[in-house]
Order: sequence, then structure tokens, then C-alpha cells
Amino acid sequence: MHHSKDFLLSLATKVGTPFWIYDASVVRQRIADIQFLTSAEGLQARFAMKACPATKILREMLGANIWIDAVSGNEVLRALHAGYPSGHNPPAIALTADVFRDNALDVVLQHGVLPNIGSPGQIAELARAGYRGPISLRINPGFGHGHVNSCDTGGPSSKHGIWFEDILTVKNAALAAGLPVTMLHAHIGSGPQFAELHDNLSLLTTEFTKLLPHFPHLDAISLGGGIPHNYRDPSAQVPLEPLRLLFASCHQQLSTAAGRHLRIEIEPGRYYVAPSATLITRVTDLKSTQTNPKGPGATFAMVDAGFVDLVRPAMYGSYHGIEVVGLEATPDADRLPIVVAGPLCESGDIFTRDDRELLAPRPLPRPTAGDLIAILDGGPYGYSMASNYNSIGRAPQLWLETDGSVEMFSRRESIEDLLRSEVSQII
Ligand code: LLP
Repeated sequence: MHHSKDFLLSLATKVGTPFWIYDASVVRQRIADIQFLTSAEGLQARFAMKACPATKILREMLGANIWIDAVSGNEVLRALHAGYPSGHNPPAIALTADVFRDNALDVVLQHGVLPNIGSPGQIAELARAGYRGPISLRINPGFGHGHVNSCDTGGPSSKHGIWFEDILTVKNAALAAGLPVTMLHAHIGSGPQFAELHDNLSLLTTEFTKLLPHFPHLDAISLGGGIPHNYRDPSAQVPLEPLRLLFASCHQQLSTAAGRHLRIEIEPGRYYVAPSATLITRVTDLKSTQTNPKGPGATFAMVDAGFVDLVRPAMYGSYHGIEVVGLEATPDADRLPIVVAGPLCESGDIFTRDDRELLAPRPLPRPTAGDLIAILDGGPYGYSMASNYNSIGRAPQLWLETDGSVEMFSRRESIEDLLRSEVSQII
């Protein structure tokens, strides 16, 4: 984190704490990385907008000719609101859904977005709704990797996609319903290491190659998202050049096997925004418990952000870098194991956790009440997974432009926002 203490304190005075600060230059650098990865002819990047769906972010993506992978009808409407074109030529918005909920089917019909279906019965649903356009099939290839089990997106335990051995039956159903399959898709999750990502993508390409002869209408293959971000070591990110070569070779292999040009898509979410956003929270108090027969004592830094702002540590035991603002350079010897805990009425409202321990104290400089703490790498699945639990209201999001100006692009939610959908309506 490179924001200065004075800068963050001045923002805190203006908008209160906690707040999110996004850095335009970091978002644009990550976009440039993806453009580099897809610079070979025939490659197209999408943004899995579930990671960070703000209009502000979507417009950055649109400006860089990055298409959209949406997951709900409302995500599609957000993309259209940001200025993305509807329709199939080109299919700039794909809707990847295992379940059509609420307005999803209506949106597919009205706006002609490409449905990327993940469950066999969705063919009949589309047909019943009167859809007669192209579709994409999301395949569960039987393998994959998530950063934790609950994020695994390929394999027998995954609820995502159509099991690969069922794919020809589903294709026949699509044919009978008059829905040409123009894309095949798989998302096999974020492997922690480049080697594993490489092996999984190569294997996936081989599996797709076998399916090609059965899909005469195909014009694209999507290799999904899942470009990893290293949350523990910012200097050890995925090597771009080997990944670029890998995508180019997948393209060549698939187009050669098909005997015609196929578009190869990738749709990362996390990678674009991971290091761009920091959650800034204020330390309200420091307190300790003492060791007793039930367990060891701990020192708690109480902060005003909680898992309503960033749920990843509480939900997956995910690691996020944590810094006491202004004390980043404190030597290891002067750090103490500290638990950073939030305001929610939940024992699990703790940012320093891992996938086994509720408390995984972090070596931090001892903060004082009033200090700011920065929780790093919250761009993806940070604000987008925020909730209104405990009626706290979501924290504001700020955008630091390259000229040094700061824009608030979503304000702190108020009690009026929280009450807005309450009605008294006899039905
Ligand atoms: N495409 C599809 C079809 C997906 O299901 C996902 C993520 C992505 C792309 C983007 O994956 P990424 O490049 O961001 O790894 N909330 C979890 C992540 C859930 C991801 C689910 N699908 C987290 O906070 O880590």
C-alpha cells in the first residue's frame, strides 16, 4: 500500500471510516496485463464482473474493449447501464448462470445476451421462454482447483456446469430446441501456482479438442477465469509471458483442430482489481484476554470495519495483508501477534483468520486507538460481497485518479437506503 498517512487521514476526515480507496493506476496496470495476455490474434478477454461490479470499474473495462461475464439479470442490466452493447454481434455480454433467477430469462430475451448455461434443464427453460438464439454450454470437466474447497469450480463436488459426460445429450436437446451452441466454456478456478494453472488449461484444451467435431456451430471456446493473485507476496505474481504463450497456443491448437478460426476467451475477475482497492478502517480500542485452561490469551485491535465490508477472511479463512498506517516499516522484532476484530455481533468477525483457526494473530506494530489500519487487496469480492447485516450500511468507495484527485463513487449507505425496500403490501 503506497498511500500516505496524511492522505488517508484527510480522506477519513471527509467521509468517515471505514471506506474503500481504489487506485486508478493499479486497475489500469492490471487491465494492461490482461490486454498483453490476450494480444495474439483471436483472443478476447471478458471481465467476470461479480468480482467488482461498480459502473466506475465497468467503464474502465469497456474503454479497454474487455467484454463482460455476468451472472444475474441485474448484472447484465448493470453492464448495459455502464454502456455495454446488447445483442449477439459481438456477444459482448455473456450470462453465465447455473440457475435463471428473477429477471435473468427476461433479460436474455430482451437484450439478446449470450446465455452460458450450467445445468441441463436450462435448455428447456430457454425454449419455453421463447428464446431461439445462440447458447453457450458451461462444462464441468471433472477437474479444477479453487483457493479453498468451497471455491472449487470443477470436479465431482462442484455445483457448476454440466458434467462433461452429459454434454452430448445436452447438445442434442439444444439441437432439438433450435438453439445453436456457439460457445463451449469451462472455469476451473484459481490455482495457487502457475504450474497448476498451466497444466489445467492444457488439459482443458485437450478435452475441448475432443468435443469440437460434435459442435458445428461453435465460434468460440472460453477457458474461464481464475488467473490467480498472490495475496501473501505482492512481488510474486503470475508470470505473464508464459501465460500469454499458453493462451496463444490453446488458440492455435483449437483452431487447427476445428479447421477454422475459433475465438478463445478468458474471463478473469479477481486479477483485474485485486491490488487496486484497500479497506481503510479505524482502530477504536485495544484489549486483551488472558490465557486460561480454555486457551491462550490474545490481544485484539478493535476496528470499525467488519465482515459486512470484507467477508473473505470470515467466509474462507482468506489471507489479506494488513498494515497499521504510518507504521508499515516497523521491524519484525517490534511487532506483536494481534487479532484484528470488527464491530459485528459475531465471534467470527475477525480479519486475522486462516482456514483452520478462528484467531490467527498477525505480527503487527502495536496500534493506538485512532490509528488507521489498511486491509489490502480487497478489489475483488470485497465490496461486491458486502452485506447489510447488523444494518450497518455499506461503506463508501473512493477512486484515486492519476492526477491525484479523489472521487467518491458510492456513498455510505444510510438508514433510508436500508429501509427503502420495506413495504406493507397485501398480496
Ligand atoms: N468465470 C466464472 C464462470 C466464474 O464462476 C468465476 C468465479 C470467474 C470467471 C472469475 O474467477 P476469478 O478470476 O475471479 O478467480 N468469492 C470468491 C470467488 C468466487 C469465484 C466464483 N467464480 C472469493 O472471494 O475468492
